[in-house]
Amino acid sequence: MIKKIGVLTSGGDAPGMNAAIRAVVRAALRHNLEVVGIRKGYKGLIDGEFVPLASRDVSNIIQRGGTILGTARSPEFRTPEGRQKAYGNLVGASINAVIVIGGDGTFNGAGLFSSEFDIPFVGIPGTIDNDLYGTDYTIGYDTALNTVVEAVDRIRDTASAHDRMFFIEVMGRGAGFIALHSGIATGAEAILIPEVDGQEDSLHDYLKSQGNKSSNIILVAEGNSVGGAEQIAKQIQEKYPEYDVRANVLGHMQRGGSPSAFDRFLASRLGVAAVDALMDNQRSIMVGFVNHDIVHVPFNKTINASKNLNKILLDVADILAH
Ligand code: F6P
Repeated sequence: MIKKIGVLTSGGDAPGMNAAIRAVVRAALRHNLEVVGIRKGYKGLIDGEFVPLASRDVSNIIQRGGTILGTARSPEFRTPEGRQKAYGNLVGASINAVIVIGGDGTFNGAGLFSSEFDIPFVGIPGTIDNDLYGTDYTIGYDTALNTVVEAVDRIRDTASAHDRMFFIEVMGRGAGFIALHSGIATGAEAILIPEVDGQEDSLHDYLKSQGNKSSNIILVAEGNSVGGAEQIAKQIQEKYPEYDVRANVLGHMQRGGSPSAFDRFLASRLGVAAVDALMDNQRSIMVGFVNHDIVHVPFNKTINASKNLNKILLDVADILAH
């Protein structure tokens, strides 16, 4: 029987993680469970960095970016010895179940742990990349998208004032969700994403054909096959001296800031759903949000299957860019 649960955030932080922690704590208290915060993700699990969490400990955090528990990427949790140590700490602290908030690396770790030990794990998707199979949205993605849109709008002002072309690099690791969606939302002239090959040719076609635009914004997803924004900008400037080219890497500012209303809402729903799932004897699953409803997805499915990006949206972007 579950009496005490642990909660941790792991991997890259994402706006809305605090809202999810708050929801987990308060939903657990409703079931008369004790809650322990595990600091710095799996690293804290291995080092035994535990802090009790009561309702007032999660007051006034729904609006804060980052994560009050801290986060880390833990190579030690990938080793059997590391996981054994973590198990020992959980048993020592009488923690009967753990809710993990993070991305695919987090669920990988949770999946491994669950296959070796009898302590149930449930996952909540939290990453700005939105690259997890089994959920339409991950916590933090909507906020990051809005942050990118605001930054690109500002760059558009100066690009337009100077008749310049900007290559703007956004995050997403191996996925193009941030680039594609923010590209459409900002009216980008071209978008380079990892999911599509041969985009170099279409970029050149666009550059040769583009008419009398006063500015050009090319959104570059960091994992695309053509290259980083700085590198592409340099090549394009050499090949097309008629353009005045600049590059801008938005970087970690995309991960910070107060979560959007949608991310707070999503995190709140998923936090409650994760506790409900544990109470319902669910194990080794991620709670996801599909068609505005809660779903349960086995860890092995969300780890092994890849989430498809709707490539039709590239046509939409292209139609609207001319
Ligand atoms: O997964 C979130 C993310 O921000 C990716 O978009 C990016 O590639 C990566 O993390 C950056 O990681 P780090 O903060 O370790 O440099």
